[in-house]
Amino acid sequence: MDIIETIRKRKSCRTYIHVALTPADKKNLESYIIEDSKGFENEVVNFNIIEKNNADNQMKLDYGMIKGHNTYILGTAKSTTASRVNYAYLMEKVVLKATEMNLSTCWIGAFDSTYFNEVSIEDGFDIPSIVIVGYSDDKPTYQDKFLRFSVKASKRQRWNKFFFNYSSKTLLTSEYVKKYSDSLEMVRLAPSSGNTQPWRVFFDETLKEFHFFKKVISKRYELKGLHDIDMGIAMSHFELTSLQNGLSGRWLKHAKENVEPIDELQYIMTWECG
Ligand SMILES: Cc1cc2nc3c(=O)[nH]c(=O)nc-3n(C[C@H](O)[C@H](O)[C@H](O)COP(=O)(O)O)c2cc1C
Repeated sequence: MDIIETIRKRKSCRTYIHVALTPADKKNLESYIIEDSKGFENEVVNFNIIEKNNADNQMKLDYGMIKGHNTYILGTAKSTTASRVNYAYLMEKVVLKATEMNLSTCWIGAFDSTYFNEVSIEDGFDIPSIVIVGYSDDKPTYQDKFLRFSVKASKRQRWNKFFFNYSSKTLLTSEYVKKYSDSLEMVRLAPSSGNTQPWRVFFDETLKEFHFFKKVISKRYELKGLHDIDMGIAMSHFELTSLQNGLSGRWLKHAKENVEPIDELQYIMTWECG
């Protein structure tokens, strides 16, 4: 499926039919997870699909606003920004694969990690976020609609909040980087924790590089590392869309001293156009 179509189609689902994945869907997703285990600087994440069958012992998510969930995708990452970004970059590809397979998903940042005692967590690692996967109940509950409304889930800020010229710090219009307008638009449409949309992207015209920065929108989310997750998600959208549009490139991380400090922003990584 076209990646732009898939990104546009994905939205967080909070009402699931309480059934397990079909063996075919599970197998398909598992094969994809194995292919998709290597991220930035070859850092590996081994995601697991975990099914919980005991309806009596359901983890309460968002105070019970998420219904019918019983299948989760998760792994562990080092408790660092770089590893969380990498985790999310790989996981969002799994989310888009699931979307393409007509499965529904929801990223979850607030959960009880002890619920997943089958996953061993090494020292210095944690489970930075999980993804629920399953089949959507076509009739979303009142709570589902309320939650979407309260985080303004369908709304994204405009281009002028996110995309800038690196040297002048002025707004980057889509005409200026026409070839990349789809890639940037797919960043804009990415999901983020509490729909906070912390991505800021600066284009260096001379070196043809897009620098990705994080803006802390919520201190609470930042403390939980969720803005790092948001960054990795957006970066996977940027990459997948660029590659589909025939725009090659690669991710690199400049040394801090080689990146201009920008007020309130934290440098994450750079896409070097091919
Ligand atoms: C890292 C991350 C953590 C999230 N955590 C939660 C969560 O704990 N509970 C929840 O209901 N939604 C959660 N969401 C879903 C966001 O609220 C949702 O992506 C955002 O409102 C945009 O809506 P959309 O995904 O339908 O486009 C999370 C999303 C991300 C990316």
